[in-house]
Amino acid sequence: MEYADVISLAELKEKTRAVVQVNKRAVALFWANENAFALSNVCIHEGGPLIQGQVHEKDGQTVVQCPWHGFEFSLKTGKTFTPVPDSVDVYDAKIENKRVLVSVQPVSRGKRLSKMNPTAQALLEKCEAAHADRPKGPLRVLGISSTNLTPGLPRTSTSEKALEWALQLAREKYGADTRVLKLRELNIRPCEGFYSRDAAACTFPCSLTQMDETDEMHKVYENMIAWADVVLVASPIRWGNASSLLYKMIERLNAVQNQITLQKKYYIQNKVAGFIITGGQDNVQKIAGELMMFFTELGFALPKFSFVGWSRGWYQEDMPSNPQAMESSMDFKEDLEKLVNNCTVLAKLVMKNPEELPKMER
Ligand code: FES
Repeated sequence: MEYADVISLAELKEKTRAVVQVNKRAVALFWANENAFALSNVCIHEGGPLIQGQVHEKDGQTVVQCPWHGFEFSLKTGKTFTPVPDSVDVYDAKIENKRVLVSVQPVSRGKRLSKMNPTAQALLEKCEAAHADRPKGPLRVLGISSTNLTPGLPRTSTSEKALEWALQLAREKYGADTRVLKLRELNIRPCEGFYSRDAAACTFPCSLTQMDETDEMHKVYENMIAWADVVLVASPIRWGNASSLLYKMIERLNAVQNQITLQKKYYIQNKVAGFIITGGQDNVQKIAGELMMFFTELGFALPKFSFVGWSRGWYQEDMPSNPQAMESSMDFKEDLEKLVNNCTVLAKLVMKNPEELPKMER
């Protein structure tokens, strides 16, 4: 077997790890348990740099954990434990004359045996086909409710009530099909910041969707990308901000926005968003501004006057009266009707002849 002389033993011992080029390939070299180990530096999952991974003991083996999504590979065999036995290329490493030598060819070849789970695979296919496959039919309006009411404890949420009225208007006045997603009913894992490790580690479908079949963010992706023409987002005001559930969803939507930044891939096209913001205390405009910014970064078109707000101000602490006050406000209902109208009018415009629309890129 042919070997390449890559580094002095003293230097490897001192650094405990090093990336070396062998036969034009990046090889991660580790010094652990008084031995040298050599693996491909490129994680078989999505290409993460194994050299930056943490080395530790697991089930009697020394493993390196990929810094991107946490797959662990045995330094000796290159095999991973989770979630299925994928593996990376392993090279032979030996010591001669105080130098470290690495085999020019891998002694075992890595394989990716795992596939995206069926839910993530089906989601990807639907989202890829979404624009070509929009069947003729009524306008589709998706409502997203982000209030966090206690399950089984009857209480009126002003934001959810206003969203229900808006969807009812969309059905009755504009003949739309409507759906609603209540974020509190979905098991959505918080974003784990893969983007912050490396932009390429933030994939679509989101790495969490690919790795965790119990996670239900796929319902948001699918309805938003592959079904809706209009998305109405409803949020209560929580200490001057949108609800934390809404931010949980927004952070997971980074996986969609990131495809624009990295690959110029626009999953959201010719869709319109509008916002309903309600609370006992004010900060409607600040929340509206944040939502407008984020949803336009996703690729949504916003109509003129794209939000409505309901607030009774700083001194109104009689919260039980708030739903009733909103319900008897004709001004608010008129505003809501205008919002639905503005969103549907714009959606029909952008959907009419999408190929004739001027191209707009980020
Ligand atoms: S675990 Fe290595 S790239 Fe995903």
